[in-house]
Amino acid sequence: MIKVWSDNLVAGNLGRHQDRGSAFVYLTEAPPERAVSMTMPVRLASWDQAIGLHPIFEMNLPEGYLRERLRLGFAKATGAFDDLDLLAIVGRSQIGRLRYTAPDGELDEEVPFLSVDEILATRRDGDLFAYMMERFARYSGIAGVQPKVMIRDEANAKAFEYTEERRSPSVRGATHIVKLWDPSEYPQLAANEYFCLMAAERAGLAVPQRRLSDDGSALVIDRFDLRADGTYMGLEDFCVLNAKGTARKYDGSYEANIFKRAAEYIPAELHRVELEKLFTLFVLNTVVRNGDAHLKNFALTYDDVNGAARIADVYDVVTTVAYLPKDVMALTLNGSTRWPDAKTLKKLGTLRAGLTPSEVDVILERVATAVSETGKDMQRHIQDAPAFAEIGTRMGEIWAAGIRESLTR
Ligand SMILES: Nc1ncnc2c1ncn2[C@@H]1O[C@H](COP(=O)(O)OP(=O)(O)OP(=O)(O)O)[C@@H](O)[C@H]1O
Ligand SMILES: [Mg+2]
Repeated sequence: MIKVWSDNLVAGNLGRHQDRGSAFVYLTEAPPERAVSMTMPVRLASWDQAIGLHPIFEMNLPEGYLRERLRLGFAKATGAFDDLDLLAIVGRSQIGRLRYTAPDGELDEEVPFLSVDEILATRRDGDLFAYMMERFARYSGIAGVQPKVMIRDEANAKAFEYTEERRSPSVRGATHIVKLWDPSEYPQLAANEYFCLMAAERAGLAVPQRRLSDDGSALVIDRFDLRADGTYMGLEDFCVLNAKGTARKYDGSYEANIFKRAAEYIPAELHRVELEKLFTLFVLNTVVRNGDAHLKNFALTYDDVNGAARIADVYDVVTTVAYLPKDVMALTLNGSTRWPDAKTLKKLGTLRAGLTPSEVDVILERVATAVSETGKDMQRHIQDAPAFAEIGTRMGEIWAAGIRESLTR
């Protein structure tokens, strides 16, 4: 059994159910604002899941390297090892506003300190990376396949004012995400993402602060779900909003499972602004040829689970075609995973984001300028970082082709 916390207060209990499932029961006294998800309002009846965990509880479970590492480290103690076991390990430190503890446990999210400046200045061959994995894996309740950890930066943490209003002054959560890469698989992935995020910001989208380590081996990103007072916003990815488990993150279409779903959860008065953001992000993903824009790489954030949800700040935009030349889109658009042309983008923008044809033109123009300007920055960076030359040059060519084939035709 696991105790589920929402905004630092107990929401209910999660346990195994029948052979392979799980069941979640709210505390009888839980008020509506303690709901664990926009998809699971507070109610008396239990929320049963026939197989595995409910998507919201599965949302932040590590997927690739980190999951395997945690499994190897903890399997011995528990014999078998399933998602509920993994949740019990990484549950105290999670993206978003939910936390998980033992039934008699208290919140003790004391993530150890690590200086971001030190990470940025250390070379890959040093011990820091092994240390980060060793020390921070268990505090990394974060999804994704790429190796990464969540850390708490000293300088940053001190800046927080722990006021009376904070419900639990003992909670000291993670402030940053450190994304690493496997050189044998995706060389220079951190720099790749760094420049894609730069293009996103230039295109007018909200992107969290991020820094690339001196040797290009790590990308350190500020958590955008962390508020100035040290508390966390609610975050739900589009697997959750589509009631799909993580295994189905590549299953669906942009029009139905992203745009239409977003419009269902975002209040009507915010559609204009938020759907424009979503459309801009989609256009950017297209132009930089990000073939990994799956359901978990879009999310909504909110302050109040029953209040207004908005499109989350941008994360995980990568030129995947730099590694997989034939890569196509992660989800379908009009039944196809082929990269869309300008005509198809226009149809999407007008039909699904409620934009006028001339508003769409402005967005396409803005993204084209953002990507080509960032391409120049990328070329300049290659002068200082020869290790990035091969991937960086390839990315420049892919982006130019992306503009040509998806924005001007
Ligand atoms: N800056 C951020 N602040 C808060 N949460 C974030 C931030 N960046 C990413 N996340 C969350 O962490 C998860 C993992 O991050 P990310 O998608 O960058 O990892 P990844 O390993 O590259 O993913 P994938 O498996 O899609 O390649 C995201 O799905 C999102 O929920
Ligand atoms: Mg991702």
